[in-house]
Amino acid sequence: MSDNKIVIASDHAGYLLKKQLSDYLKSLNYDVLDLGVDTDAVSTDYPLKAQDLAYILKDDPKARGILICGTGIGMSIAINRYPFIRGALAYDKQTALLARQHNNANVLCLGGRTTNFDTAKELTDIFLTTPFDGGRHEKRVLELGEMK
Ligand code: RB5
Repeated sequence: MSDNKIVIASDHAGYLLKKQLSDYLKSLNYDVLDLGVDTDAVSTDYPLKAQDLAYILKDDPKARGILICGTGIGMSIAINRYPFIRGALAYDKQTALLARQHNNANVLCLGGRTTNFDTAKELTDIFLTTPFDGGRHEKRVLELGEMK
């Protein structure tokens, strides 16, 4: 288990941004586990990659995840099917910040066709360094994990 561990995955539409972000995070000395895909030449279904990432986070709750598809929407729908996941699709600094401060997000979803690398780096930095506010948000986040 490690606070420093980042698990990252994408489908074909998120491949390039995943590769760029994975290299960026390694340069910052994060412990990066890249679950693929390893090419954009083969079409890959995003639910399967989200499922792979969910199982890693289930065993390692301190790890954080990054999922990238074309828009980030499919990945966010898929990953939020797991009660121990709080996946947030962020597209600007405010959504990345509030995903951490209010929602205690443990997975960041990004769109490879909608978010460029410079913005994605900014959003990832915010996601990885912003603490959860707790307080009034604590009860709501606990309720998320107990939904039936
Ligand atoms: C793949 O073409 C695309 O549908 C997928 O990457 C994603 O954007 C779905 O939400």
